[in-house]
Amino acid sequence: MSVTGAARFLTVPEVRARKGAAPLACLTAYTTPVARLVDRHCDVVLVGDSVGMALHGLPNTLGVTLEMMILHGRAVRRGLSHALLVIDLPFGTYEESPAQAFRAAARLMAETDCAAVKLEGGVEMAETISFLTRRNIPVMAHVGLTPQAVHRIGGYKVQGRGDEAERVTEDAVAVAEAGAFSVVLEKVPDALARSITARVPIPTIGIGASSACDGQVLVVDDMLGFFEDFQPRFVRRYAELGDAADRAIAAYAADVRARRFPGPEHVFGEGPAERKGEDS
Ligand code: KIV
Repeated sequence: MSVTGAARFLTVPEVRARKGAAPLACLTAYTTPVARLVDRHCDVVLVGDSVGMALHGLPNTLGVTLEMMILHGRAVRRGLSHALLVIDLPFGTYEESPAQAFRAAARLMAETDCAAVKLEGGVEMAETISFLTRRNIPVMAHVGLTPQAVHRIGGYKVQGRGDEAERVTEDAVAVAEAGAFSVVLEKVPDALARSITARVPIPTIGIGASSACDGQVLVVDDMLGFFEDFQPRFVRRYAELGDAADRAIAAYAADVRARRFPGPEHVFGEGPAERKGEDS
């Protein structure tokens, strides 16, 4: 804590300096209460465009807008006092030109107070990454499986097997040379993720990649076990909150129907003793 009592956030250079050091723990968050929990334990909080699927029921990330990212980014920012906040640039807000990317990224930073943006793409996005970083917008890159390219790829397939390994390596090298301070490697074979991690001078953040990466990221709702029908192999479920919530909601509905809820302790009376807890 500083002399003024102000929060001390991890900085972009500090995250960059974690190359080859203690692994970076990263998770997504989309709301203030979850951000508070993640902030206690993680180094980097990502407001991913996965918010579209995790919270809004979209079939993929393509329908996510800049306004959604700003809304969730602001909510998450209110829950942080330590972790570095990174926010995804959504599909259609940055691919056209470096200038378009700058406008979207500058809005994200100004309106959410995030420290960095993330964007998907390798060699083809290098010019944009260089444009942004030279204009004070730190960029986390994202190569391998890039979910915004789901239709071109034809699904959420592992990237970089066999002959494709060279292409994914070139992507990672290109974004590092362009000035990205870290790079997400999504769904690439373990050996390739290891070799890229050894090759690039910036931290690699794996998701479905390798324990050798300089950090790991997961979608928080996946690792908390919120979804019954979505269990990618690369997710370890640390809790079964979906089941717990299902049981709790079923118990509530049964109590309401049997008039067991509310109980005497939940309703308000006239006497002074009964005024306790009235305001909460
Ligand atoms: O959108 C997202 O949450 C992401 C991470 C899973 C890397 O891009």
